[in-house]
Amino acid sequence: MSDYFHWDAAKLSLDVAEMDREHQVLIGHMNTLHRLYESKAPAADQGKAFTTLADYTVKHFADEERYMEKVGYPGLRVHQGVHKNLLERVGTFGKDFKAKGKFGDDLFVFLRMWLTAHICGVDMKYSNHAHGSH
Ligand SMILES: [Fe+2]
Ligand SMILES: [Fe+2]
Repeated sequence: MSDYFHWDAAKLSLDVAEMDREHQVLIGHMNTLHRLYESKAPAADQGKAFTTLADYTVKHFADEERYMEKVGYPGLRVHQGVHKNLLERVGTFGKDFKAKGKFGDDLFVFLRMWLTAHICGVDMKYSNHAHGSH
């Protein structure tokens, strides 16, 4: 089975090595979860993969916010708000899973949106700031 989420450097690279590396790890965790979901793996395994993804997301957002602070990115507060929102949605998917015992396709629609809209649209802005083009 081919990976569902692709690391497309031309589209997703921010030219910030540490964040690019973390985004690739994030995509790896998304692919693991998607693979388990598609192959109808035991719910416990899917739940574990989801927790790994959720935990890594918390770490990534914290690292990213530290990076934005370091480069003096003026949109830090707004970006933090977007992260908080995403974490809330991740939390809701986790709660739904606990209640229903399974994930749904909507989770993967959400994850895809996150990759394209967040990395390309929102993360790209701090990269542009760090690289001096506004
Ligand atoms: Fe971000
Ligand atoms: Fe990010």
